[in-house]
Amino acid sequence: MEREIITTADGSSTIFIPQWNESYHSKHGAIQEAYHVFIKNGFSLFEGKPVSILEIGFGTGLNAFITLIEANKLNTSVHYTGVEAFPVLEKELNHLNYCNQFEKEYQHYFTEIHQTDWEKENLITSNFILTKNQMYFQDISFENQFDLIYFDAFGFRVQPELWSVEIFKKMYDALKTNGVLVTYACRTSIKNAMLEVGFSVEKLPGAPGKREMLRATKR
Ligand SMILES: C[S@@+](CC[C@H](N)C(=O)[O-])C[C@H]1O[C@@H](n2cnc3c(N)ncnc32)[C@H](O)[C@@H]1O
Repeated sequence: MEREIITTADGSSTIFIPQWNESYHSKHGAIQEAYHVFIKNGFSLFEGKPVSILEIGFGTGLNAFITLIEANKLNTSVHYTGVEAFPVLEKELNHLNYCNQFEKEYQHYFTEIHQTDWEKENLITSNFILTKNQMYFQDISFENQFDLIYFDAFGFRVQPELWSVEIFKKMYDALKTNGVLVTYACRTSIKNAMLEVGFSVEKLPGAPGKREMLRATKR
């Protein structure tokens, strides 16, 4: 599918798919949304503890990049696994402006995150280990491995099959007990699918421009 780079309301870029009228991040602000959903309501719960994170939809690597930055600030050690079937191309990455939104000392990590090999563990900083797996979400079979899942698939409108009981069962199995899944979405059918596989689910205030988001916990 054709992909274009666009600028969102907070000045940070994202990728847009015209055929689906769908973007990789909120048009209200890509970085703003990523911080709200994944850092504030996910990663920050684990401050001071080592944390293993699974990202569903590695995409531009923005979530990995900001997690690396926050891990460094909080001195938290992170094992980060990003799953993605259709990696972003180098020529697309060159047009994303994420680096210059952050302090100079961190900028080169964005490139390193993308240049490291897929299918192996890469030590990016002394407290950030990254594994990128090129695979379909449908083929995931992790068990009791992660503390936190960033569930960042395209929206229900375009890929309803990824917001199903079948996929959330895989997410539930991938988490350790007390593990947490956060996502920008808040649709009732999504909440019900999460409840059906055994999650406890909270509705939280959404990122700017969105009313609510969901956080699910494996008890
Ligand atoms: C909303 S975007 C992810 C945004 C990403 N977290 C970021 O910060 O750039 C959804 C991602 O899921 C990927 N994707 C879509 N369907 C998939 C599937 N069935 N299995 C694996 N990846 C898929 C897309 O290629 C896209 O990168």
